[in-house]
Amino acid sequence: MDFYIMTLFPDMVMEGLNTSITGRAVSKGLLSVEAVNIRDYAFNKHNSVDDYPYGGGAGMLMQAEPVYQCYKSLKERIRLKRLKKEQDGAGKSDNQKKTRVVYLSPQGQTFHQSMAEEFAKEEELILLCGHYEGIDERVLEEIVTDYVSIGDYVLTGGELPAMVMVDAIARLVPGVLHNDVSAEFESFQDNLLEYPQYSRPEVWHEKRVPEVLLSGHHANIEKWRREQSVIRTAKKRPDLLEKALLTEAEILLAESVKEENI
Ligand code: ADE
Repeated sequence: MDFYIMTLFPDMVMEGLNTSITGRAVSKGLLSVEAVNIRDYAFNKHNSVDDYPYGGGAGMLMQAEPVYQCYKSLKERIRLKRLKKEQDGAGKSDNQKKTRVVYLSPQGQTFHQSMAEEFAKEEELILLCGHYEGIDERVLEEIVTDYVSIGDYVLTGGELPAMVMVDAIARLVPGVLHNDVSAEFESFQDNLLEYPQYSRPEVWHEKRVPEVLLSGHHANIEKWRREQSVIRTAKKRPDLLEKALLTEAEILLAESVKEENI
């Protein structure tokens, strides 16, 4: 999967994403991450890309034209890349499919796991990061397909939200995590939180690892983990339980935990 991040701060994005698991996936050729500097598409001799908002008000706005030119050049590169992939026979590329362009903004839909799963199906993704007071509305109207927020707070720019999105989506791409199973069984799978986990030693600060985990009895371990997931979710995120698929016994268990918590 290819990520293209349109930004005024390419170093910030690349330094963050070239390390750890995403960095390793890039080296292995499972992903590509490229930050494209919108300033390279400035059209005046001062290289500026911002201007005062019409009607007054605080701060500066990113102008439409550099953002648009940056997008157009990316779109052409993506078209050529898809074509080459098809000519090389490296899988059929759907050249008709429109590349999604995500604008990171507190006004967007709140990002969540199922959105990450949906985006992970794309061949590539363009993430557009605003700065200052935002971007001229007219270019957003022309190029943006999705508006995404990472939560109800205001950051200084879209770079951190874009990195959050790339990280959450990239780990769902097959092969990115060493162990594909771990992408399945974890927080938010089935709308349940992950069960508690333990590693060596068996006793730490006088706390013992739950006996069942040392038993080697896989069915009992799975049963215990499932119960723990239900208990945790009922305690910490009862709102998630509404969407979880629970058995009758699990519903009763969740209810009793919620009552204890009151
Ligand atoms: N840009 C500034 N704040 C943001 C947020 N909370 N989510 C996405 N983009 C943003």
